Amino acid sequence: MGAGVLGFDPGLLQAIADRLGTPAYVYSANLIRAQYNALHDALHGIRHRICYSVKANGNLGVLRVLKQLGAGADIVSVGELRRARIAGFDPDGIVFSGVGKTTAEIEEAIRAGVGFINIESTSELATLTSVANEIKLPARVGIRVNPDVAIDSHPYTKTGEKTAKFGIPFDEVVTVAKRIAAEPRLVLRGLAMHIGSQITDVAPYHRGAIKLIELVTAIRASGITTLEALDVGGGLGVRYHNEKAPTPKAFAEAVVPSVGAAGLGLLCEPGRYLVANAGVLLTRVLYRKHAGGKEYVIVDAGMSDFVRPSHYNAHHEILPLRDGKRPEEVVNVVGPICETGDFLALDRKLVAVGPGEVLAVLGTGAYGFVMSSTYNQRPRAPEVMVDGDRYYVARQRETLDDLIRGETAEPTTWYKA
Ligand code: LLP
Repeated sequence: MGAGVLGFDPGLLQAIADRLGTPAYVYSANLIRAQYNALHDALHGIRHRICYSVKANGNLGVLRVLKQLGAGADIVSVGELRRARIAGFDPDGIVFSGVGKTTAEIEEAIRAGVGFINIESTSELATLTSVANEIKLPARVGIRVNPDVAIDSHPYTKTGEKTAKFGIPFDEVVTVAKRIAAEPRLVLRGLAMHIGSQITDVAPYHRGAIKLIELVTAIRASGITTLEALDVGGGLGVRYHNEKAPTPKAFAEAVVPSVGAAGLGLLCEPGRYLVANAGVLLTRVLYRKHAGGKEYVIVDAGMSDFVRPSHYNAHHEILPLRDGKRPEEVVNVVGPICETGDFLALDRKLVAVGPGEVLAVLGTGAYGFVMSSTYNQRPRAPEVMVDGDRYYVARQRETLDDLIRGETAEPTTWYKA
């Protein structure tokens, strides 16, 4: 495995696996920086802010790298808000989306001075208005619009079609904007969309941006002059296998002209684009087995550590760290979890690997650790940040004690109604 394939030094990965054990997530600060800088450069023609989508990978070490580059943050919960603030993100550059923000979350976001609290329904607007009035603080809001734009992606990650639960329906947006403008404590700063994830064709971004500009024109015509930015969301696709990932330049060309012509700043919320290929999951081969005409490679990472293959049928490349010419074979790479759906790869052509050796599962920097669980009572993996030729443990491996924290076998307090 050449360093060029991965962007990681295989010797360093092996050292990490030997020191910390497996499974372990490893991230590269330099690969994250390269992705950020490429997008930042492509957007040079417009006032912009790249608001990293914390849900893709909320590790504080990852957030620190992005914060140092000047990124803002896209969050969906107070848990993510807390992480963003610990990492030092400027609240003004934080965008808070989500269809189900609680009253407590809205209050905390207002108190923190979040730059864009994106409203996703009229009943959420009512809650936000009453919270702002109750605590007597101003709230800076955006409207997340449902632009009714289709994309070609996994059905679970399409979010911009009319029937989706996300955003305010297109034809209600102007009315909602007027309601916001009529509230003395609220200021409408922007319109936002997020049409889905792992988008490989930039045309839907263009269509969506044009629709948002239509709304900007109508909102301005109603006398509202507070709009500052248009947020075109996240979703930029990456190459996991043989997908054609859009270039930052193509993305910029799809959105910058219309947003620029409207005299607005541009926000975007990439998650996967920034971190997916900056991360690998290290896993060790435990056993080999032949069963029912299939060759099995049994490894120590399962669906509890990395769920994308079994949840989305996602293809992630798997490479052994050890070099050398070996015959290829077709194998199922499976984990230790007691489910048939527990696999990292099925019918995959792989060089012959044997017990004890370490494999790297590629493209696991986004929606990897954050979607992991403790199913089957397996402590979650550690997360390691590599910077140049050094690394540090950005999150320790969970312990068995962590898994039972807060539980009790003997009742301590009984309650009645
Ligand atoms: N903004 C909003 C409002 C979002 O809901 C998301 C992702 C993003 C930005 C970032 O999207 P990205 O640039 O990472 O595609 N677990 C799935 C992906 C779910 C994405 C959810 N929302 C997966 O593993 O493919």
